[in-house]
Amino acid sequence: MVQPTDLSVDGRLTIEVSPSAHSASDFAQDVREGLSAHPKRLPPKYFYDEAGSKLFEAISELPEYYVTRTELALLQRFVPEIAKCSDGNMAIVELGSGSSRKTRLLIEALIARQGFLHYFPVDISEAILMQSAKQLLKTYPELEITAHVAEYKAGLHRIAEESFEQKMVLFLGSNIGNFDTDGALDFLAQIRRELNRHDYLLLGTDMQKDVSILEAAYDDSQNVTAAFNLNILRHINRQLGGNFEVKNFSHLAFYNAEQSRIEMHLRSEKAQSVHIGKLDTTFQFGPGETIHTENSYKYSSAQVIEMCAQTGFHLARSWQDERGYFSLNLLSPL
Ligand code: AVI
Repeated sequence: MVQPTDLSVDGRLTIEVSPSAHSASDFAQDVREGLSAHPKRLPPKYFYDEAGSKLFEAISELPEYYVTRTELALLQRFVPEIAKCSDGNMAIVELGSGSSRKTRLLIEALIARQGFLHYFPVDISEAILMQSAKQLLKTYPELEITAHVAEYKAGLHRIAEESFEQKMVLFLGSNIGNFDTDGALDFLAQIRRELNRHDYLLLGTDMQKDVSILEAAYDDSQNVTAAFNLNILRHINRQLGGNFEVKNFSHLAFYNAEQSRIEMHLRSEKAQSVHIGKLDTTFQFGPGETIHTENSYKYSSAQVIEMCAQTGFHLARSWQDERGYFSLNLLSPL
């Protein structure tokens, strides 16, 4: 059972840590499975230890990584329309809230409309969640926050136990793109099951575009994305007692046009063996052998409509920037 902690900023912040959030045994099991597979793989959720979450914040500021800034500009433009969804007491649930930087816009608009707001951010990184919650509460006295340190699914499940007059679930940043096709549909359907008739889902999706733009966004000139990708090995070293020599691996990112996705991999630069203490196992790597660490799917407008239709949603509104790089989609239950 999770113990809610009232950490107070005037009693307006409650934080709950899901028992599975930092489970070392899940991490160990996933690493064992992934590094025993052919080809080797690691789940992208393990990018996000404290260092990885900071690196992701740095990625979001990169000139090549248009994703965050484009979505932010869309929110700036369309937040007045989005806020009109509120019937007067709408809560926000955000899956993968990170720094909540983009969400501030909506928080502000809803406070102006409703006079108050209850915000439920869910994120795997406790440090980022705490830091952003405290900053928000200092800025907005009309805000109450119940934060969940959890993976998306566990967080969503827990929040379903709350009772809301109305809620809007935010799933921004094209986080949906890190699921494979079936996983994305399953997850949207899970969100759909937690929504009532007057609730909404605001979904950010990164769109298909010129390959050179996509590849630069995932292989930037300052090598921040490379550091982010390689950090997964450091995370294994720190938490599971691994002895990865990180300098013997390199970052690889390319667009797979057939699957409409950017793939990230780590390539072993030589034959080497890596021992992971907590697994009591040594893994062999051949020269050039890769570990698949992430997919980031890019969508067409037709695919977004199709995903909505397949998961019980109606696409009420969809906004894109002039270049058609990114879209913000307002979904309501069918
Ligand atoms: C979090 N997620 C949506 C990012 C993406 O664009 O797929 C993660 C990322 N990986 C490399 N750069 C950013």
